[in-house]
Amino acid sequence: MYNKYNFLFTKEEFLNFKELIYLKTGIVFSENNKIVLENRIKNKLNEYKLSSPSEYYKIILYNNNELNEFLDSVTTNLTRFFRNSSHINILKNYVLPDLLEHKKEEFDRKIKVWSAGCSTGEEPYSISMILDKMNIDYSIIASDISYKSLLIAQKGNYKEDKIKEIPDQYKNYLNLNNDEKFYNINERIKKKIAFDYHNLKNKSQLCYNMDIVFCVNVLIYFDSKSKTEVINNFYETMNNYSYLFIGHSETLINLNTKFKMINTEWGFIYKKYT
Ligand SMILES: C[S@@+](CC[C@H](N)C(=O)[O-])C[C@H]1O[C@@H](n2cnc3c(N)ncnc32)[C@H](O)[C@@H]1O
Repeated sequence: MYNKYNFLFTKEEFLNFKELIYLKTGIVFSENNKIVLENRIKNKLNEYKLSSPSEYYKIILYNNNELNEFLDSVTTNLTRFFRNSSHINILKNYVLPDLLEHKKEEFDRKIKVWSAGCSTGEEPYSISMILDKMNIDYSIIASDISYKSLLIAQKGNYKEDKIKEIPDQYKNYLNLNNDEKFYNINERIKKKIAFDYHNLKNKSQLCYNMDIVFCVNVLIYFDSKSKTEVINNFYETMNNYSYLFIGHSETLINLNTKFKMINTEWGFIYKKYT
């Protein structure tokens, strides 16, 4: 078995894993977070009683389930309810009023939202609470490449420390579990969300005519080429009049995309307007 205290990738091993992760997900692993990768692989070597990273590499190369599990293990799934106050303000005060006004003559006024890279569900549930509170007809598709995260998201049970992040005005969307250890998300707003195991490297089968896409804190791990592909895929799935949210530290400047940047009172947002 591999000695877990003496683990170090050879240069070639690191490059092989790095290349595979990039090809399959678009995520770029730098030398700086090599240690993260080493730790994940170390656990696998111990679990499967393997003697080198190369043996594990061969397994994931030929076994799709193992590959997906591995890719899941290298994703960063950090998230919070109502994470970004500027996004919430832009959504409530700018995007939703504008979309409703734009759709007022349309027969189908439902707002279709995609939470791409939804992790454990806090983002789509926050959006769901906001839209329901505003009495808007809506549906949400929430997707991720992390199967483990999606299972948590689908359950919709969260502990007290997570729930604390939810503003009081939305607390009525939570029910305390019988054993008082968890809070459950209200069934009605939960049913508005379809969770989907989806890799952003591929085109989505479920998403079309989207009015709003959230892809927040996902593309920070991508290089320009993969980022551009994903952003242009979003463009294709979106309505001709629609909005895209990306993270604070992310930008589309210098990427070849057709989105227009709009400066609102609460911060920047990207718009498709044809
Ligand atoms: C840091 S979390 C962001 C969660 C949420 N959007 C937020 O801002 O709080 C990034 C998520 O993106 C997902 N992700 C990374 N690469 C992906 C890909 N190629 N396809 C789909 N999801 C991906 C990860 O699994 C992870 O759950």
